[in-house]
Amino acid sequence: MSGDRDSAGPRTRGAAAPIGVFDSGIGGLTVVRQLLASLPGEDVLYFGDTARVPYGIKSKETVTRFSRENTQFLVRRGIKMLVVACNSASAMALESLRREFELPILGVIHPGATAAVRATRSGKVGVIGTQATVGSRAYDRAIAELDPRVEVYSRPCPLFVPLAEEGWIQGEVPERVAAEYLAPLLSAGIDTLILGCTHYPLLEATIQKVAGDGVTLIDTAVETVREVTELLQTEQLEHPAGTSPREVRREYFVSDVPAEFRKVGERFLGRELESLVWVDQDDLPWYER
Ligand code: DGL
Repeated sequence: MSGDRDSAGPRTRGAAAPIGVFDSGIGGLTVVRQLLASLPGEDVLYFGDTARVPYGIKSKETVTRFSRENTQFLVRRGIKMLVVACNSASAMALESLRREFELPILGVIHPGATAAVRATRSGKVGVIGTQATVGSRAYDRAIAELDPRVEVYSRPCPLFVPLAEEGWIQGEVPERVAAEYLAPLLSAGIDTLILGCTHYPLLEATIQKVAGDGVTLIDTAVETVREVTELLQTEQLEHPAGTSPREVRREYFVSDVPAEFRKVGERFLGRELESLVWVDQDDLPWYER
């Protein structure tokens, strides 16, 4: 089925509805972590497409289709806004999703680009991410729109994803990998580096050590939550209960439960995965075709 059926649905999402977040898998939990820290009164529904991860090596067509289906899944559950937590999906599918679905949708590229343009003094910004994100040049375009004088140096760092999932985030091995990946960006003179992948905040300490104190790291999860907060205010979508105590709703849906999912997920989220649901195949839009 196409995205049309859901996009034609009612704009039911009142301020009391949950925020929807999707990612290719586990990584978007770094965005949820920031969301829960900054907006503790909001309900959150997360969908991790663990059956079809990784997105970072897939084509734009495929990632766009997957993203549309993930959005449908969340829209059916009555979300008031959507956060595309995955950098690869934000880079390749955000515009299509905004055309197809009638709800506020934020990705992670624009917030990261905005923070980097604000932070740079040398006018040289580095971007690291998956092959899909770097190949799409989405950060380059977003930065050029904000300030065409800023030069962008980018590099895919695919090994950071398994290192983060293995919990191999400090010590000799990740440092050597980081040194290898970052060498051309550092010799180009970058003073700001966008961590353009959901997994990279876990390696922040190692990346900072290798890059040196002169390089400002931009955590796109933190910047995205800033934009979410602004959007909720301007659209008057903040949860009416504000910060007063109530039973908040946090649900984590996944399309598969791979080995060690809970352990790795909780490391990314920084807390217990309270309600983890392995979605029944019949509830996944892509099985309805
Ligand atoms: N979530 C992806 C991203 O931020 C990384 C993992 C993947 O390749 O799917 O680009």
